[in-house]
Amino acid sequence: MFITDSIFYVGVNDHQVDLFEGQYDVPNGMAYNSYVIMDEKIAVMDTVDIHFTEEWMGNVAKVLDGRKPDYLVVQHMEPDHAANICNFMKAYPETTVVANAKTFGMMANFFPEMDLKDQKLEVKNGGTLELGKHVLNFVFAPMVHWPEVMVTYESTEKVLFSADGFGKFGALDVEEDWDCEARRYYIGIVGKYGAPVQTLLKKAAALDIQIICPLHGPVLTENLGHYIEKYDIWSSYKVESEGVVIAYASVYGNTKKAAEILAQKLEEKGCPKVSLFDLARCDMAEAVEDSFRYGKLVLASLTYNGEAFPFMRTFVEELVERNYQNRTIGIIENGSWAPMAGKVIRAKFEKSKDITWLENSCTIMSAVKEENLQQLDAMAEELCK
Ligand code: FEO
Repeated sequence: MFITDSIFYVGVNDHQVDLFEGQYDVPNGMAYNSYVIMDEKIAVMDTVDIHFTEEWMGNVAKVLDGRKPDYLVVQHMEPDHAANICNFMKAYPETTVVANAKTFGMMANFFPEMDLKDQKLEVKNGGTLELGKHVLNFVFAPMVHWPEVMVTYESTEKVLFSADGFGKFGALDVEEDWDCEARRYYIGIVGKYGAPVQTLLKKAAALDIQIICPLHGPVLTENLGHYIEKYDIWSSYKVESEGVVIAYASVYGNTKKAAEILAQKLEEKGCPKVSLFDLARCDMAEAVEDSFRYGKLVLASLTYNGEAFPFMRTFVEELVERNYQNRTIGIIENGSWAPMAGKVIRAKFEKSKDITWLENSCTIMSAVKEENLQQLDAMAEELCK
């Protein structure tokens, strides 16, 4: 597949993966992208996941058409991209591996049996590599998503090889909306690292970028401002859309009932979007995604062993560790003798920045009663203000 006359796509689609990175459901599979730049010197940009060695090597060989690669550029050492470095070097032993010092350190840990001898080109932040007409400019992007990550700007054709940045879940042979699965991917995988992403976006703003070639998801060639704007919103923890997420953990249906009543009240009041999640049964990554997308969140949990219910604990942990901030949170708690889920949930957000707690909350003793309906009414009123 041509990206330009001299830049080729050699990546693969993975429809076998059950959980990407060991935890994310990917109903439409995953793409591991890799590219070849053909010039006087030939550069291969990253490798792919270990389960696709043969297919990827076949794709590369087809583009090379009998020529030998001069460089293998390694932008990121996570094995979904770097697993085939050693296999590649066995097939093309004269190639020079291009990476930064941190990457070479990680490479030695992942491939203790591989000896690159003098076939290493260590690049610095801001360093360049001329391939002929093409010039690779290396820009370090630590923590987007690992500390060794760098992106590469090819300044002749104005192509940004963006590593995990601007990636999404989903294989490339399935058509789907970019925003939705790119957001779930970003919030889940890179969400914690908003500040480093902001730093990278500032560096990228100084470049004339015509094409973005990420390591996952489609190559982006049009309307780049849209994708960059989304990344700016997500990485600065701004509210993307108006709406309320209600996430509940319920055992016998009483807490669930309260969550559903609140959802109905919000809809009746014309709330632009109400997103309801049963934390024990939903894709939690979607609940996390929506919590970062919308500005308001209601957490509804029964009390369990003096704590919130386990699925609620996990959910709150997922939010807090991703630097959840700048949002309004409301509480619905339930307990048959000592309801205290609300208190423990509030404490979990103690170090989170710019959290506004809803003044109204709802405390249920076992089952929803008239006084609870009034509390839910007051919550709905306040959430719609
Ligand atoms: Fe797609 Fe951080 O690896």
